[in-house]
Amino acid sequence: MGLSIEQSRLLLSKIANSDRHGENSPYFDGWKAYDRDPFHAIKNPGGVIQMGLAENQLSFDLIDEWIRRNPKASICTPEGVNEFKNVAIFQDYHGFSEFRKAIAKFMSRVRGGRVTFDPERIVMGGGATGANELITFCLADPGDAFLVPSPCYPAFGRDLGWRTGVQVLPFHCHSSNGFQITKQALEAAYNKAQEENINVKGLIITNPSNPLGTTIDRDTLISLVSFVNEKNIHLVCDEIYAATVFSSPNFVSVSEIIQDMECNRDLIHIVYSLSKDMGLPGFRVGIVYSYNDLVVQCARKMSSFGLVSSQTQHLLASMLSDDEFVDNFLAESSKRLGKRYNIFTKGLEQVGIACLKSNAGLFFWMDLRSLMKEQTFEGEMVLWRLIINEVKLNVSPGSSFHCSEPGWFRVCFANMDDETVEVALKRIRAFVCQGKEGEQQQQQQQQPQQEAVKSSSKRSWKNNLKVSFSSRRYEEGVMSPHMMSPHSPVPHSPLVRART
Ligand SMILES: Cc1ncc(COP(=O)(O)O)c(C=O)c1O
Repeated sequence: MGLSIEQSRLLLSKIANSDRHGENSPYFDGWKAYDRDPFHAIKNPGGVIQMGLAENQLSFDLIDEWIRRNPKASICTPEGVNEFKNVAIFQDYHGFSEFRKAIAKFMSRVRGGRVTFDPERIVMGGGATGANELITFCLADPGDAFLVPSPCYPAFGRDLGWRTGVQVLPFHCHSSNGFQITKQALEAAYNKAQEENINVKGLIITNPSNPLGTTIDRDTLISLVSFVNEKNIHLVCDEIYAATVFSSPNFVSVSEIIQDMECNRDLIHIVYSLSKDMGLPGFRVGIVYSYNDLVVQCARKMSSFGLVSSQTQHLLASMLSDDEFVDNFLAESSKRLGKRYNIFTKGLEQVGIACLKSNAGLFFWMDLRSLMKEQTFEGEMVLWRLIINEVKLNVSPGSSFHCSEPGWFRVCFANMDDETVEVALKRIRAFVCQGKEGEQQQQQQQQPQQEAVKSSSKRSWKNNLKVSFSSRRYEEGVMSPHMMSPHSPVPHSPLVRART
């Protein structure tokens, strides 16, 4: 006799039963919609285009070419197979020293050579996901908290909190100053946590920001370092998008700040990964770089739970030691990202859609506040469902990034080819134009009444989008977030991949 799901749950741990994985958020629902009906230029031209995936697929050709030119770097080629045994038996949690040296050098190059990294401080994690959890395990106990400026990376709740029991406390940044972090907001969040008897162990930031695509300026970084020093708490800087910067201002790493500043370096930790800068999320290369000796020691021991495979280390040690390749890759990748960003944002601008001005990342932060009937999170969900079900674009709503203002959406632009970009832009144009037509039609029908209600008819054409685009499909249940909530066992969850 089988047990009901509820009964089975009782047999599992609290962690297994907790929903802190975050699978039931709209951010993940968009993924399900894409998986059910994925766009393909020939096989499924009407399908959903995946714009919720922060992947850097624009420079694979450069890596391909390097691999072809360097068959010895791989242990699965006639040229490299002699190393097979040595690589296959290697299991030390320190990692290959050539790999650590190559990573340290790469991190330095990504930061323009303005700072150097000690290979002895490089600790491996399973992607930045594993690295973020690893550093949290080292710094905090269950119930302790980390402050995080919002809008923020949606999976921080899962990565920092699910298995560690640590809380993530977002504090809000606002569009009025381009969502920059202010000392006042940070101080207020810290004080509030103190009043609630929450032990704040640190602050985590992503620089460049996911989802904003902006870099944090030097003065703000200095004030954050001062803040953690005043409070004697930790600063974790997730710099996973460091090499995605495509226009000014330049990226400034916290490593540069502490080089020029009096501070307690034991409080400073960097999380890095090759998932975004090199476009290699499948390799699961995550790094904890701590300036604190005890943290390095402890993290290294804990890293046994999320090592980078020695085969991957072997290949990358070779690739990242090739200075010419690295310099060319970094320059070319950034150029391609900038070009793609411009095509997208200019295309949107032409139809009156604005985005937060940004200079980095694999996405931009689109402002659709003017398309919403109501400036509420319900309004945001209505618009999001319309975009995903009618326009067939999987963009991610701001609410899933803990944004405090409804109407912002993250749009990923580097995980598709040029043709798909064109299709996406065409769809957006059609969506906006139909909205305009809808408004004109409605205005014509309502002309007599409109005269009478002129003062109250401040609704813009955009407010009529709901008229032009019925939410019929949504009502038919194509993709209600509640229906899609993945509480049933699925053999292959798309959400496993949905960590970006
Ligand atoms: C800010 C941030 N941190 C961490 C991650 C996880 O990256 P990884 O694939 O290296 O685990 C992501 C992925 O999107 C991210 O955006």
